[in-house]
Amino acid sequence: MRLTETADVWWKNAVVYCLDIETFFDTDGDGRGDIRGLSQRIDHLAELGVTCLWLMPFYPTPDRDDGYDITDFYGVDPRLGTHGDLVELITLAKDRGIRVIADLVVNHTSDQHPWFQSARASRQSPYRDWYVWRDQPPENASEGIVFPDQETSLWQYDEQAGQYYLHRFYKHQPDLDITNPEVRDEIIRVIGFWLQLGISGFRVDAVPFLLDTDGALDPEHLPDPHDYLRDLRAFLSRRSGQAVLLGEVNLPYKETRQFFGDEDGDELTMCFDFIGMQKMYLSLAQQDPAELVKAIRERPAPPEEAQWGTFVRNHDELTLDKLTEDEKQEVFAAFGPDESMQLYGRGLRRRLPPMLGNDQARLRMVYSLLFSLPGTPVLFYGEEIGMGENLAAEGRNAVRSPMQWTNSVNGGFSTADAAELAAPVVTGDLSPEHVNVAAQRRDPDSLLNWIKLLIQRYRETPELSWGDCTVLEHESPSVFAHLTECEGGTVVTAHNFSDQPATVTLAVAGAGVGVRAVDLLQPLEADVTEDGTLQLELEPYGCRWLRILHPGDRYIL
Ligand code: NOJ
Repeated sequence: MRLTETADVWWKNAVVYCLDIETFFDTDGDGRGDIRGLSQRIDHLAELGVTCLWLMPFYPTPDRDDGYDITDFYGVDPRLGTHGDLVELITLAKDRGIRVIADLVVNHTSDQHPWFQSARASRQSPYRDWYVWRDQPPENASEGIVFPDQETSLWQYDEQAGQYYLHRFYKHQPDLDITNPEVRDEIIRVIGFWLQLGISGFRVDAVPFLLDTDGALDPEHLPDPHDYLRDLRAFLSRRSGQAVLLGEVNLPYKETRQFFGDEDGDELTMCFDFIGMQKMYLSLAQQDPAELVKAIRERPAPPEEAQWGTFVRNHDELTLDKLTEDEKQEVFAAFGPDESMQLYGRGLRRRLPPMLGNDQARLRMVYSLLFSLPGTPVLFYGEEIGMGENLAAEGRNAVRSPMQWTNSVNGGFSTADAAELAAPVVTGDLSPEHVNVAAQRRDPDSLLNWIKLLIQRYRETPELSWGDCTVLEHESPSVFAHLTECEGGTVVTAHNFSDQPATVTLAVAGAGVGVRAVDLLQPLEADVTEDGTLQLELEPYGCRWLRILHPGDRYIL
């Protein structure tokens, strides 16, 4: 059976939506979102067209890294709800055709995790070897620090333990030793547990660090870390044929490709496209898509049933680490000139609308790109209504403000006092008074309705998710145009990166009469000339999606 006719490989054309329960919807008035609140708002996601919900960490945590510091991999943070609430959420989501995936954060634990507490207390602890210890830090202890503004070494001396332990991230997040078979088995059990509760896979945190065995004392006799990833995937697929691993791998393309595994894709099901994302911002800054074109051409094809995860923003800073220093400065100048918008020179702690001066045409063009470029689009909550950031919040928290439901107090997120909220609400031009779900649902011209339309068309257009993609050559420097073909169907898109109108001539078909281009986003149609070319007039930041129809082709909606 053709894969495009089944949902067996559902992730290939999914719409993933990431949210933090804590900041989504509060039902008990304590200022913190909860699982029941998310359940109450599940129809917002269903109406939007979301097919996969990625829950950021909901496990018990001292919350020193927004929940990425976990004290019980099998638990649910009681402030958010119970296992019962979670199972109800998964059931409700399933009823709306939405699968749920969870964050799997097993590179490290919190230093408050009972395993680490036991490990540091005694060399005889059964958990001592679950972490990576040394009597002396290695010479390269300060290479590859992820948070250089907060940490000076990857190794921290622990008084109680009398040794140094490895931590890739904050010092309160000791790394687990995945070369230890007991740790490997425990991670497998964690995966099995959540699958049994009904989830459809995981977003896997920090995959290269998880597999990294740099701290090991006996590098000669190490198992291949990719074997471990293969084992994880094999276990996952045995337990649940429909489950996925969506990996956070921010490496150059060639290295990232290795995390998909062999030609059949036996490791990660999806990898985020960090390079494409960074090049897109560079192209937006330059009003010229050349850099994005280069990235899309260089991007390795994933195995047939695997997919790239494409995104515009996520819960971390907009990292620019794969650009050159000059390129990074160009993006800063265009989208975050003020130091308060930058995160220690690494990236931008901003959301897209304020970066673009809330220019609606430009915003729409960016989301049109997201849903038409090859890859599975991943949205971060609030993007669908064009939420802004709160620069008064510390560091990466700027983009983690409460969801804006209405124009009332706290944006309808919670009835608690503002001071009690899990995170401060956005203020200024993009505050809930101006940007909220309730208003945009009622406004046919809203960003919310634009994104709904894009999602609907994306879901019914297999060419976009399954097709072979060709970036088209043409004479108009500000236009990105690509053609995708699948099972006899052809779709062409064009995106104008410039604030000036553009005309573009595209070769979209072979020579022949009666070929037409039917617009998928608006009631327009254009003739393709007998030599197979199509001429399009694009407004500043304009975008078009067109299906190419030959005489006799069945008209598709
Ligand atoms: C990556 C997550 O996206 C980030 O938010 C977190 O701080 C680190 N991993 C550490 O878990």
